[in-house]
Parts: sequence; structure tokens; C-alpha cells
Amino acid sequence: MSKIKYLVLGTALSMSAFVSTSSQAADGAGLYTAKMCQTCHGAEGKAPIMDSYPKLAGQNKDYLVQQMKDIKSGARNNGMAMAMKAMVANVSEEEMAAIAEYLSQLK
Ligand code: HEC
Repeated sequence: MSKIKYLVLGTALSMSAFVSTSSQAADGAGLYTAKMCQTCHGAEGKAPIMDSYPKLAGQNKDYLVQQMKDIKSGARNNGMAMAMKAMVANVSEEEMAAIAEYLSQLK
């Protein structure tokens, strides 16, 4: 009688093999590629694969960190947020800060 829901988060599961240790946390550029961010947001966050995905390069650091936290926590849960949520599940706040620092400095 119980309802069983199958959550298909294929990307999240397959990406978990790439989870890195916090020793890389200071390397935002390395983390951006190691966490597969470029597969949707493009190289250096400049060329998203879909028009409905955001460019990240040059965005304010604090804003980027806040959005990643909100998507991870579920506070931000709009149209495309599910695609993104699986990706930040394994990103720590320290790593988010390093990635945001890197992205904010891109021109
Ligand atoms: C599966 C595709 C996908 C991957 C991989 C992905 N994202 Fe996203 N990301 C999205 C989508 C889609 C959105 C927009 C969500 C929405 O509509 O609310 C988004 C939004 C964001 C935002 C908010 C941007 C804004 O302007 O509000 C940030 C920051 C971000 N992603 C960073 C990252 C980082 C860092 C990684 C790697 C850890 C990553 N993303 C990996 C799809 C992805």
C-alpha cells in the first residue's frame, strides 16, 4: 500500500564519484571543473548550454554564494532549480566561496 517514489537524480549520483576533499577548496577554477559546473554553465561560466541557464562569469561573489546556498537548501526552488540542486548537493560552503571568488573575477 505504501507509495514508492523513484527519484531520478542520475547526474548527482554519477557525479558523487568526483567529490573532492576540502584540500582543493582554495582553487575555485579547479573546483569549477572538478564539480562539472562547466557541463551546464560552459567554460568559465560564459556559455551556458541552454538559454534558460544563467551565465556566471563576472557576477557578484556574494550573490553567487547566496544563490548556491539557497538552491542547495531549497529556499530557491524555481523552474530550473532542480537541475542545479543535484549539482550543489556535494559542494561545501567553503567550496562555494572559492568558486564564487573565481567566477566573480572573470571578465
Ligand atoms: C545540470 C546542469 C547544471 C550544472 C551541472 C550546474 N548548474 Fe548551476 N544552474 C543550473 C541551472 C538550470 C540554474 C538556474 C536555476 C533556476 O532557474 O533557478 C543554475 C543556477 C546557478 C547559479 C545561480 C545563478 C544566478 O544568476 O542566480 C549559480 C551560482 C550556479 N548555478 C553555480 C553552479 C556551480 C558552481 C556549479 C558546479 C558546482 C553548477 N552551477 C552546476 C544548472 C546547472
